[in-house]
Amino acid sequence: MAYFYEGTSHTFSEYLLVPGYSSAECIPDNVSLKTPVTKFKKGEEPAVTMNIPMVSAIMQSVSDDKMAIALAIEGGISFIYGAQTVEDQAAMVKRVKDYKAGFVVSSSNIQPDKTLQDILDLKEKTGHSTVAVTDDGTAHGKLLGVVTGRDYRVSRMSLDTKVSEFMTPFEKLIYADKGTSLKEANNIIWDHKLNSLPIVDENQKLLYFVFRKDYASHKENPRELLDAKKRYVVGAGVNTRDYEKRIPALVEAGADVLCIDSSEGFSEWQKRTIDFVREKYGDTVKIGAGNVVDREGFLFLAEAGADFVKVGIGGGSICITRETKGIGRGQATAVIEVAKARDEYYEKTGIYVPICSDGGIVYDYHITLALAMGADFVMLGRYFSRFDESPTNKVNINGNYMKEYWGEGSNRARNWQRYDLGGKGGLSFEEGVDCYVPYAGPLKDNVSLTLKKVSSTMCNCGALTIPELQKKAKLTLVSSTSIVEGGAHDVLLKEKTATTVK
Ligand code: IMP
Repeated sequence: MAYFYEGTSHTFSEYLLVPGYSSAECIPDNVSLKTPVTKFKKGEEPAVTMNIPMVSAIMQSVSDDKMAIALAIEGGISFIYGAQTVEDQAAMVKRVKDYKAGFVVSSSNIQPDKTLQDILDLKEKTGHSTVAVTDDGTAHGKLLGVVTGRDYRVSRMSLDTKVSEFMTPFEKLIYADKGTSLKEANNIIWDHKLNSLPIVDENQKLLYFVFRKDYASHKENPRELLDAKKRYVVGAGVNTRDYEKRIPALVEAGADVLCIDSSEGFSEWQKRTIDFVREKYGDTVKIGAGNVVDREGFLFLAEAGADFVKVGIGGGSICITRETKGIGRGQATAVIEVAKARDEYYEKTGIYVPICSDGGIVYDYHITLALAMGADFVMLGRYFSRFDESPTNKVNINGNYMKEYWGEGSNRARNWQRYDLGGKGGLSFEEGVDCYVPYAGPLKDNVSLTLKKVSSTMCNCGALTIPELQKKAKLTLVSSTSIVEGGAHDVLLKEKTATTVK
């Protein structure tokens, strides 16, 4: 006879936290949101940790290199989507690893035999007034000079004038050498009253510009997540089909942590993928696996050697897996059961395998709930898709700004490997939708507000760290009537225009 789980499976919105005692030290400023990403032995430190418990979803509409940089600056990790060619994905990873805050690869470049008219056209196209003059007209060619608005006057010069005749030549430029730190570059900029400073290598090849205006925004990011070489930390999604080719390319590009991206992770394909990593790289390459929703699934992946386990089937905002296939489980129940299995496994083996709650975060407080239920971090798709940094278009619909967002199992994502068990044959039906989400502005502002809320609730629970929250949290299931009570009720919300009655 089939197995029946006891009780009903629940979602986050069906739970609330009951406050515990908070001492005078228990204030949001004292909260640490540091959390492990990869497994570790009792008494040892995890190889990968994050400064905030948030990762961005392995999705075309969410995690590219731009998102990864923005999130690493805030202390989290993006898993660059795998639904693209190996080369393109590896190039995205490499761009994150090569990125240096404040060091900008020149986007306006020209050759010296071009004309003033070409400069004006370029300025019109890029919107930038600083143009690098290089021997081959590329961003990393030999730097021969720089043109800014101070070098020409359109009213007094012929538009045919050659760039070489009015540029500030290299010999007269103030520049800095490769290896200059952002702080040093900034000092040079201030000492010489410059607007920009070119950084060149020993062969006079242009590497970057440092701009005066950028310094303020780059100097303080106390949570930024850096590797041992001070590069941003980045993750990447892999699948159970082309891993023999994809994983080496991503490792070579510098990915810090990988994750097998699949809607259903309790499978031999995942074990084979992890085995490949262990045989080729031992423990030096970190790889998470998933998704699972119960104890059995977790134990399978933990024993297969996963560095972390992702939890969740069918709870994502764009997900129609439950409707289409009838598989899944309420996200809260899944997290609670898997967290219990993780703790038992730790008790038995001395190995702590972090778990990630993936999908279904609608309100910021759901993040706190997931952590309280035992998740070490959460993965979010819809949340991040709303920001400037997501790779999708911003559109205006009836006067409201929206961003596009689509599931990896939608036709739009071309049914890449996520929804395929790994054997032969592709997907013949959709498991996700293509939609819009309300545009919400820059990642930084949103994440910082979300984390303020998380920290504040943690204080209400008397917890200054995530492990402390997991021990101290008191959770209660709520009835549907009390969910209504939780919002504004029995009041008439003010409309934009109300007429005063005298
Ligand atoms: P969200 O944060 O609620 O939007 O959920 C994001 C999560 O949904 C992802 O991390 C995936 O686990 C899952 N997901 C992504 N694409 C699809 C899809 O097309 N169908 C079902 N689930 C999806």
